[in-house]
Amino acid sequence: MPKVVSQIPEAKGHWILGHARELRDGLLDTLVALYRTHGPVFQMRAMRRRFVVLAGAEANNFVARHEAETMTTRHHYEWFGRELGSERFLLALSGDDHRVARRILRPGYSKAHITRRLLSLCILAERTLGRFEPGPRRHPLDDVRRIVVDQIGLALGNRPAGEMVHDLERAISTLLRVTVSRSAPRALLWSPRFLLARARMRNLVRTAIAEHGSGPPTDRPRDHIDDLLAARTPDGEPLDPAFLEASAHGPFVAGLDTVASTLAIALFTLARDRALRTALEAEADALFADGPPTAAAMRKARLLHAALMETLRLYPVTPVVVRTTTCPIEFEGHRIPAGQDLLVAHCVPHKLAEYFPDPEAFVPERFLPPREEHRAQPGIYAPFAVGPHTCLGAGIADVLLLLDAAYILHRFEIAVPPNLTKLELRYDPVAMPRNLRLEIVRERHPPPPFVAAGAPEATA
Ligand code: HEM
Repeated sequence: MPKVVSQIPEAKGHWILGHARELRDGLLDTLVALYRTHGPVFQMRAMRRRFVVLAGAEANNFVARHEAETMTTRHHYEWFGRELGSERFLLALSGDDHRVARRILRPGYSKAHITRRLLSLCILAERTLGRFEPGPRRHPLDDVRRIVVDQIGLALGNRPAGEMVHDLERAISTLLRVTVSRSAPRALLWSPRFLLARARMRNLVRTAIAEHGSGPPTDRPRDHIDDLLAARTPDGEPLDPAFLEASAHGPFVAGLDTVASTLAIALFTLARDRALRTALEAEADALFADGPPTAAAMRKARLLHAALMETLRLYPVTPVVVRTTTCPIEFEGHRIPAGQDLLVAHCVPHKLAEYFPDPEAFVPERFLPPREEHRAQPGIYAPFAVGPHTCLGAGIADVLLLLDAAYILHRFEIAVPPNLTKLELRYDPVAMPRNLRLEIVRERHPPPPFVAAGAPEATA
């Protein structure tokens, strides 16, 4: 039997800041380097807290098996939930409480909410893209954020919300930075700009709930809020209004920055290599050749799908999650006490050559047969995390990313400025590209006729 020891190796950082700065500017690469030095368990300081880091495929498999009975998310997300009206927020629940809530909320995150509205989603993308002219786009992240807010708003709450993009962005990122990553001062929660943005976000969600009525919709596709209103607790009761309202924010708070940042990064990875871009443009053109896109046609865009998986491997926007142990745990020969904050670095295997040869190279084919490197063993590819809190919106994210990337590639030839060779990400807590710029070289196709003619079938 291997000896179990309590002494966990310490990754030494700056005497005051610990590893805060490296984590903010290079989270994943820092954790990969520390994993190589210290192995799958080590401790470090950041944000005035001491974390034990669990990293590598072994850690992912351990967390997937044991999180429910040994870890909690409460200390990390309860405050966030409270600011949205209920500390019984899905991410803040653990164990049985979480299992029950997740079962209740799961139908609302069905991929069908998106695939039923593919044409409307293209029409909404066109609202932003229709304003593009050939030339440099200095803030592509802002462009894609607007597209994604419109789409999430329509597909999940029947309300395109593009005009509220700045309020949503400010409210969500302030809440995440103050209450979850704790990188911003608490005083920001009293700033008039934040209070106004949060009030507008809550108003958007409340209005959407009020507009939904009690029965199933007859004049539009069913959505996330319909499912929340129809949901019943194990006792057969409707959801408590505060829990319902906090949960209705879910697609925005969990889906907006993650999808927008991944899509912006993807435009960089897909456009950078001319041969790849040409092959992807051909797949994108095929998707829009015979009328509005369908879920079946999207499944045929296999290279684009692989390129997006490769983007999420190299640039995962949420490569760690935080937890606290609820009881002592033993992992890889170390005993970790109850009450210890953990950083589960679930994307560290993405950058290990033993699983993904030449890990820094962008190679979509590694996700296609015969290579399929991500399938070689469990726990090595986890852009959406592992364990009971694995992303509930992963299917929705996959569809949005593929549809939007394909639509943009179909409409425009995009290029990366020659002096932009390395993408810099800032993690706070979702990774955002800091130096991304793109060039619209030319319009490849006008809006397809079914998009030009349409208006999104939204609204009451
Ligand atoms: C590229 C896009 C996305 C990435 C990388 C991503 C990643 C993640 C990760 C890592 C978690 C675990 C968080 C934790 O345990 O602390 C998570 C949870 C979650 N995500 Fe996503 N996400 C994405 C898009 C979305 C979208 C579009 C939605 C909804 C429309 C969504 C809804 C959720 C929900 C509801 C949870 C909480 C699940 C639970 O607590 O049981 N996500 N996501």
